[in-house]
Amino acid sequence: MKLSNLLLGSALASAVPSLAHPGSKWKETMVEIEAEIQRRAARPANGPDDSSELLGDLVKPGPSTQVGKDIAGILVGKVDAQSDEQIRGKVAQLGSDACKKDTCCVWKYIADEMLQKFKGRSSKCNKFARGAVRLGFHDAGTWKKGNDFGGADGSVILTNEISARPVNRGLEEITAVTKQWYDKYKQYGITAADLVQMGANVATVACPLGPRVRTYVGRKDNARLPPDNLLPEPTDPADKLIKLFEDKTIKPHGLAALVGAHTTSQQRFFKPRRALDPQDSTPGVWDVLFYGQTLNSQAPRRILKFPSDVSLSVHPRVKDEWREFAGPGGQEHWNEDYAKEYVRLSLLGVNNINSLQECTKVLPPTSGGFDFPNQDVIDKWLNGGFGKSGQKVGEALADALPVDNSTLQSIGVDPKDATTPANIEAVKREARYITNLPTEGL
Ligand code: HEM
Repeated sequence: MKLSNLLLGSALASAVPSLAHPGSKWKETMVEIEAEIQRRAARPANGPDDSSELLGDLVKPGPSTQVGKDIAGILVGKVDAQSDEQIRGKVAQLGSDACKKDTCCVWKYIADEMLQKFKGRSSKCNKFARGAVRLGFHDAGTWKKGNDFGGADGSVILTNEISARPVNRGLEEITAVTKQWYDKYKQYGITAADLVQMGANVATVACPLGPRVRTYVGRKDNARLPPDNLLPEPTDPADKLIKLFEDKTIKPHGLAALVGAHTTSQQRFFKPRRALDPQDSTPGVWDVLFYGQTLNSQAPRRILKFPSDVSLSVHPRVKDEWREFAGPGGQEHWNEDYAKEYVRLSLLGVNNINSLQECTKVLPPTSGGFDFPNQDVIDKWLNGGFGKSGQKVGEALADALPVDNSTLQSIGVDPKDATTPANIEAVKREARYITNLPTEGL
């Protein structure tokens, strides 16, 4: 997927804040910008493995409003799916007539409350944020072409979908929190479907380096259990996953972008024995390290790779894109593609796209650079340090607490138990430039 040249300027501008990233020097940023230019010049506008189908009422009768046209542009890759639009000035008081007249007003209050829940003291995003991203997927993902219900309809919190289907294990806490928000704010006319997707987008940008995904409201709710077997299993082979997502209009490159959300993850139920083991070295950070480490047989031992991610990473229709995300310029490329694919995902099963309204301006700002605080301690943990206290370190990371000496001591962990050598420089290097990926079997 290649955006028009008009967008190149904004992408390059967004590459510059990564100067704040430690270990990143001006030279590295220039290399990144150059790689971005080359990538965009080399790629066809839309290849067979890039998503470009229209959805819902954008197919028939077609885009008829400005929002409908914007979203159609995003879906075909011609309009940027990220935006920096912010609210300028004061927001009207919740419940006031002025607030009632402005569709986005109540959403500003909701987004601010969500942000409080999603951030920890370490400035990373926490387990609720990751849950919210996954919840957005598990609501919207229950749709495929030809079905006239399911998708982004709020059913994930309006029915017993979570407890009824094992594929949703791990989403219990964020569902309970989202239901509380729904009960609090439904008097202001919001839908559960919008709330779930707003949660996913606030959570994404709450994670350091996460994109600000354009956000729309006005979806309709459906308190009906959606069709089953439309969500993926971590043991599914790549061919099965590709078919599952193509049936939802998401092509292999789009799937590669979306599963990158596992960069923030600390699984609990795929392998309960290894609960809270992460899927890359920097859980709670929206970086591209997940892509490189999934391919890397030398990744630290606590990193638990889902077989589905491993299978996708080497599939002929996915592997080049996967390696691009892992390589120079990968962060900007991935954020751009993730945002595009998440707009698509968040609209599956929605048939009133022309009448939605954009409320991107209520999202928190992006966090720009990120300095990997205490990564040396995390790195020791990833390589087997902390012995029996390892579980407590995992819990601290899930809560996005800093793992400095005083916090470790306050949770009953002796910092001296971290016996394995730290490897922070290697982790930081790997986070930005994966240049020595294994080629065997690719
Ligand atoms: C190939 C498709 C996918 C499979 C097989 C898959 C599977 C899984 C599994 C097994 C977990 C761990 C749950 C646990 O044990 O706690 C997980 C976590 C997660 N997934 Fe996926 N997933 C897929 C795609 C996606 C997509 C498309 C998104 C979002 C756009 C997503 C977002 C997440 C997030 C954020 C977590 C972390 C949740 C947490 O830490 O609590 N996944 N996924």
